[in-house]
Amino acid sequence: MDIVKSTVPVLREHGLEITKTFYKTMFANNPEVKEMFNMDKQESGEQPKALAMTVLAAAQNIDNLEVLLPAVKKIASIHVNSKVKSEHYPIVGKNLLLAIKEVLGDAATEDVLNAWEEAYEVIAKVFIDVEKEMYVNQICVDNQIHQRM
Ligand code: HEM
Repeated sequence: MDIVKSTVPVLREHGLEITKTFYKTMFANNPEVKEMFNMDKQESGEQPKALAMTVLAAAQNIDNLEVLLPAVKKIASIHVNSKVKSEHYPIVGKNLLLAIKEVLGDAATEDVLNAWEEAYEVIAKVFIDVEKEMYVNQICVDNQIHQRM
């Protein structure tokens, strides 16, 4: 937690660079996720910044993740509309870590990268759990509609 928290300010300072590296790497390594993203927003730099910056903000609250729940729920419903699934999280995690590594340069020691990998897993789990529940509820509502028809 200490390692993650102590590197958040440096990463925030380089937010735009992280974000750009992250998307460039992810779309090159995992083109299959590209179609989920709204490319107009990519051009304007609006959403791209939101995703990476939210991971940094969450990392700062890693010992108190409940405070993030209202924000997580809002983002989760956008994810569910975009059909984001649990198997997509490792893709984002891997490419975000590569971006963090590139931006931190020499400061990206093995300890630092391991700490970020763990932090991302914890944050991703919060999103995955909230989204899983939303998908289940969605299926229940769909079933009710079908039963009524
Ligand atoms: C812990 C990890 C993640 C965080 C913190 C995060 C955060 C965010 C945020 C803040 C937004 C913007 C919401 C808004 O417009 O108000 C967003 C949108 C979105 N996220 Fe995530 N996200 C994460 C993981 C993922 C994953 C794994 C995927 C799928 C590969 C994904 C795909 C999307 C998509 C498709 C949008 C809609 C924006 C667009 O159309 O470009 N996210 N996310």
